[in-house]
Amino acid sequence: MTAASAVPTTAPTRIPDRTAPPADTGPWVGRPLDRADGTAKATGSATFSAEYQVPDIAHAVLVHATIARGRIRRIDTSRAEAHPGVVAVLTHHNAPKLAAPRRASLMDLSTMVVGSRVPYLNTDEVHYDGQPVAVVVADRLEAAQYAASLVEVEYDVRPAHVDFAVEQSRATPVSQSLGMPTVSGRKGDAQAALATSPHRVDLRFTTPTQNHNAMEPHATTAVWDGDSLTVWDAAQNIDWFRKHLALRFDIPLEKVRVLAPFVGGGFGAKGFVWSGTLLTVMAARVTGRPVRMALTREGVYRTVGGRTPTAQRVALGATADGRLTALVHEAVMRTSPMGGSPDQVVGASGDLYDAPAIALSSSVVELDLVPNTAMRAPGESVGSFAMESAMDQLARDLGIDPVDLRLRNEPDVSPMHGRAFSHRRIREVMDLGAREFGWHERRSTHTGSFGSTSVGYGMALAYHPAWTFTANLTLRLDADGTALLRCGSHEMGMGTVTVQAQVVADELGVPYDAVRVEYGDTDLPIAPGAGGSAQSASVAGSIVTAASQIRRRVRRWGGRDGEPLADALVRTGHDHVEVSVGADSGVRAMAGQVRFIAQTLRDQRRWVRAASGAHFCEVHVDRDTGEVRVARWVGAFDVGRVLNAKTVASQLKGGIVMGLGLALTEETLIDPRTGRIMSASLADYHVPSHADVPDIAIHVLDDPDPAMPMGVLGAGEVGITGVGAAVANAVFDATGARVTDLPITLDKVLRGVPRV
Ligand code: MOS
Repeated sequence: MTAASAVPTTAPTRIPDRTAPPADTGPWVGRPLDRADGTAKATGSATFSAEYQVPDIAHAVLVHATIARGRIRRIDTSRAEAHPGVVAVLTHHNAPKLAAPRRASLMDLSTMVVGSRVPYLNTDEVHYDGQPVAVVVADRLEAAQYAASLVEVEYDVRPAHVDFAVEQSRATPVSQSLGMPTVSGRKGDAQAALATSPHRVDLRFTTPTQNHNAMEPHATTAVWDGDSLTVWDAAQNIDWFRKHLALRFDIPLEKVRVLAPFVGGGFGAKGFVWSGTLLTVMAARVTGRPVRMALTREGVYRTVGGRTPTAQRVALGATADGRLTALVHEAVMRTSPMGGSPDQVVGASGDLYDAPAIALSSSVVELDLVPNTAMRAPGESVGSFAMESAMDQLARDLGIDPVDLRLRNEPDVSPMHGRAFSHRRIREVMDLGAREFGWHERRSTHTGSFGSTSVGYGMALAYHPAWTFTANLTLRLDADGTALLRCGSHEMGMGTVTVQAQVVADELGVPYDAVRVEYGDTDLPIAPGAGGSAQSASVAGSIVTAASQIRRRVRRWGGRDGEPLADALVRTGHDHVEVSVGADSGVRAMAGQVRFIAQTLRDQRRWVRAASGAHFCEVHVDRDTGEVRVARWVGAFDVGRVLNAKTVASQLKGGIVMGLGLALTEETLIDPRTGRIMSASLADYHVPSHADVPDIAIHVLDDPDPAMPMGVLGAGEVGITGVGAAVANAVFDATGARVTDLPITLDKVLRGVPRV
């Protein structure tokens, strides 16, 4: 399914009634309940991966390579080993062999969990600055930290490619990423159409490397008992972690248990296995003791990938009345020889605007840096910055309101493929957001006098594809009216457990408080990782299936119409009913995977499913310093059915806050000479703090999507898309400076202000 060549245009498809129209939910779905785990987290009683009190635990600390590429000529661990309390120092001289990871395959999605293919401590080769070259294990953390500083390493340095600004000229085109044809595509001859368009916007954009900065840095506690392994890890995907650890340490899958009941944010980086996890497990195996490794913030930067930088071009052709004639979106990204993959930077641009000619392309250059990885709306977050900035510029050039320009180009079917939208509410979210913001009553002020502030307004669309994955679970209803959901899903702060309990409550007709949810443990049925904004819909779909099986079974046992299920259990002499959805292993699991792939491909051909939104913001720009303060924000979204009004709003708000960082402050600085990350701390890499975040008003349509389980489109990532552009557009409105390079720092604003 390559999309390198022109994508065939198919006739619009009607949406079959695959998922019945969402049944009227009961009293619990949609309610703005507090998160079930909120109190535990707020009071400190929630136990995170680095907090398990395991007897005789040892502490591991990484020693990082200080060159980007080359070989270890000599590594001397004698001083480290002699330090009191040191239990072991592992290097490529004495580390046990790790089995090689498998190639990525759709038949086993866990193969995609590889953060980097570097054979850690099994090689003298260095592939990036920060790569672990030794692990020091000691009785106490402080001893391990100090001893790590005593490890002496000499290198044979080889030339490295680390500077994206320079190296992007040798990027080569890619046509697909992880099997998804959303990095390129073509309809008509966009370049020719552009050349003959009466009006043109042709802009270049850059976005920097960014890092995730979850509140909880990556951490692992590993305990071996004979050849059984238990790992607590700050993971977004315990099933993939488990399969990967079994493979790399060559032990049967049943011997590995991964737990992650609490995760302090992930944003994509925790969906992949990085060196810290592998080397903690290795250290525990070698020392025969439980081992904990809690990465420092710097350790995360140096061993866990961030978001790829991009260089983008968006070119739009249009008629005088604002109808697009051509749409071009090109992106350059970086991966690494040892891993990483291209992001969907241009993917959404084929679905947004009704242009007769479209050309989307991506290219990639491999750099000798820690591989890039998924970071909240990987691709869409920065692709939307370019696309939505260019649309704003076009609106300005044509003298059309940016909302109006988008309305004039609102398609009926996907412009790129002609596929149907499962449902499309762009008009509605723009309308809702504009109304709530007072968009059409806005008054920008541009006073040029010394010491003054300019006020500007900006808007941009948000857009993120919707997915579902396989979610296995068991659901049990007891005759006493309590229910138990067992599902190895992930709670990293989004509200997973809370909304699952709400869905169970309504599906089984029991109170929310009567539902217990077990999660975050690979001893439970396999759920998808928390990624792609897909977990809630995926699990909700399986809960609906399980509940209907329960209803059928109770009916077979003699249950009556309208009778509460628990009452029917009592009356028919059953103390409980329990059903399973999906299978974790064996032929049935394989069949489930085949079904999943077939359905995913069919869905892709059949329709476009996406969450969408519209951002509106007000910025205040200091005319003298160029400082941008975001003063007010309204986001209106279509995320399908709302499972919990509070957690959905929090997810969307969180996305916007992260987007403010992307817009204004976040930038991972890499030394172009050495490939070393220079801003590996929260002092040097500024994420938004309270003072940076304005009042954010969230509005949602709560309109179920007919093609998604329970109508849920997912809300984890759509919020961050478009934010960078909304800010940039407001800055332009305030100052006349079109900043096309993120982040929008003071110098760029001042430089961009037109001289009069
Ligand atoms: Mo994500 S980037 O799907 O956690």
